[in-house]
Amino acid sequence: APIMPPDLSKCYDATAPALDNHCCPPYSGSETISEYGFPATPLRVRRPAHLVKDDQEYLDKYKEAVRRMKNLPADHPWNYYQQANIHCQYCDYAYYQQNTDDVPIQVHFSWIFLPWHRYYLHFYERILGKLIDDDTFTIPFWNWDTKDGMTFPAIFKDPSSPLYDPKRDPRHVKDGAILDLKYAYTENTASDSELIRENLCFIQKTFKHSLSLAELFMGDPVRAGEKENQEANGQLEVIHNAAHMWVGEPDGYKENMGDFSTAARDSVFFCHHCNVDRMWDTYRNLRGNQIEFQDNDWLDSTFLFHDENEQLVKVKIRDCLNPTKLRYTFEQVPLPWLGKIN
Ligand code: C2O
Repeated sequence: APIMPPDLSKCYDATAPALDNHCCPPYSGSETISEYGFPATPLRVRRPAHLVKDDQEYLDKYKEAVRRMKNLPADHPWNYYQQANIHCQYCDYAYYQQNTDDVPIQVHFSWIFLPWHRYYLHFYERILGKLIDDDTFTIPFWNWDTKDGMTFPAIFKDPSSPLYDPKRDPRHVKDGAILDLKYAYTENTASDSELIRENLCFIQKTFKHSLSLAELFMGDPVRAGEKENQEANGQLEVIHNAAHMWVGEPDGYKENMGDFSTAARDSVFFCHHCNVDRMWDTYRNLRGNQIEFQDNDWLDSTFLFHDENEQLVKVKIRDCLNPTKLRYTFEQVPLPWLGKIN
């Protein structure tokens, strides 16, 4: 059977020491759950973070939206930290699957990783748009699959901006440091051009190996009542972990990006996931838009979110497979890893 959403009235202290184990929302499970009304906006185009940095009008809007989100009452479901806590709740065992008392809901390490994060990002983006009354607003993507996008995106570095986060690894967010897509707390000593090449080859191999087998790219099945298997994640998730570790602090709880419970407190989280989402979209296009898993346990897996109209809504995986249904797309940029890499 498909994974079903939790009973929101039963949130347990998460196992999240970086947050003193607390990330349950202050509101409880008494809200009614509605069907999500998919947006009818113009197609919103997500752009690369390294190319929007000179678009002052866009940046002002983005910053203003995040500023407003941070200024909402602390217990508002749209509040910046409540939005970040959603990630903690679904990764650090705050909720159990219905009718069980020992099977937590975990949105990593399986085939629900990409769809859950797609919806999470979508609602976050729609809420930001709502806060500035802009139906065309999009989050930029950290275009780490191309040379010019392989450094930490500059738009998140200004300490006076609401997009800034002080809890990062200073060695990596400084100008010119190249992201290592295999990073796991050991510095890669290759030259910049070698590292860029390694990254491109790694992405190329990942796609080549997994094009014919979606489990390899997306992650293995997980069904109602099944506990997570941390070995079951797909290769895109593995690549994505490297960027989390590379951005977060090297010590302690690896805040913010390096720990599930705190990762989404850094705005770059959503920019990073925007590219993860784009990589999935690219994978799908390369496969001629085939559905990755013709399996109702996947397609009918259901999640709950607070939407852009302040409703608590339920959404199914089957309704997010084509981003046009959510009314967004990605600016087409070159894929230097697709052909021969020089
Ligand atoms: Cu839920 Cu980037 O992780």
